[in-house]
Amino acid sequence: MTRRKFLGTTLAGGATLVAGGSNMIFAAKSSAATEPGTNSVFRLGGDVPVSRLGFGAMRITGEGIWGWPADRGNALKVLRRAVELGVDLIDTADAYGPETSELLIAEALHPYPKDLVIATKGGLTRPGPGQWVPNGRPEYLTQCVEKSLKRLQLERIDLYQLHRIDPKVPMEESLGALKKMQEAGKIRHVGLSEVSPEEIDRARKVLPIVSVQNQYNIGNRRWEKTLTYCEKERLGFMPWSPIGGNRGLKDNALEAAAKDYHASVVQLALAWLLHRSPVMLPIPGTSSVTHLEENMAAAKLKLTAEDWKRVDAIAS
Ligand SMILES: NC(=O)c1ccc[n+]([C@@H]2O[C@H](COP(=O)([O-])OP(=O)(O)OC[C@H]3O[C@@H](n4cnc5c(N)ncnc54)[C@H](OP(=O)(O)O)[C@@H]3O)[C@@H](O)[C@H]2O)c1
Repeated sequence: MTRRKFLGTTLAGGATLVAGGSNMIFAAKSSAATEPGTNSVFRLGGDVPVSRLGFGAMRITGEGIWGWPADRGNALKVLRRAVELGVDLIDTADAYGPETSELLIAEALHPYPKDLVIATKGGLTRPGPGQWVPNGRPEYLTQCVEKSLKRLQLERIDLYQLHRIDPKVPMEESLGALKKMQEAGKIRHVGLSEVSPEEIDRARKVLPIVSVQNQYNIGNRRWEKTLTYCEKERLGFMPWSPIGGNRGLKDNALEAAAKDYHASVVQLALAWLLHRSPVMLPIPGTSSVTHLEENMAAAKLKLTAEDWKRVDAIAS
């Protein structure tokens, strides 16, 4: 299977794929298209190509991101369908489950398609459901990388992200451990999560950073300065909660616009992210094949410049 195949799904979970009839134009092209508003390719670290619309594998675990999902077969189906739909960037973490997200990915997809990039993370521990506690001690992170390699059945992790900077450990020490793992060939590229431009600058004094994963969506643009930094430096920006997480996106103007474009709010929000920046790599998460198909079809939503002005105004 090639990664850049046509995403044969429909918008709004059933709308017909036809151009015209509204001011919406569908991109009847493969995801290899290079326009910023589509699922074009971004090269992580300059040498790891990924289609920009990825998949977040946090929601395939149990309640509270804890344990196994109630329907394990369904979780495997979601992962396999994601790859069928052209996803070649899957975001996960040792903390999701913990462990179960990585284990499910291996169970569903190993041996992996050649182009599949699994981006995992370490540095957050899980005392219980819904609880997340940073641990950035170098010896702990070294162990995390080794364990993720085993669970994912990989020899090298393409993108390893420091899940959180631990306020109790100097960042240089945490990243120093990841640098050693990189030098040992166990990690290809390193990314950060929930960081400011100043923190990225500081991290880059230790080792090259290729991506940043911060909370960001059309209704929450708190990390705009970090996005601007990533654009300038050509770092991938992976917005988490790209469709609002648990709460969703509740905005009347957005809902009205989505209706006018025959898309769902989620699709318009994802299409806006892809349009917002060429370094944007959204990783929407779901435990549902139907939602996954709806989300992936968002890459085909193309609006006119005039329409984007309207949506940008809602977002600002
Ligand atoms: N770096 C970090 O600190 C951090 C933190 C949180 C998350 N993440 C990563 O970011 C990814 C995405 O974040 P997220 O899962 O919190 O938020 P999200 O992707 O914005 O939203 C996921 C939520 O939206 C629902 N959903 C998905 N598609 C839908 C659709 N088409 N229609 C209606 N509801 C839909 C999901 O429920 P259903 O399962 O019912 O579809 C789930 O409750 C995670 O999977 C994880 O990989 C990273």
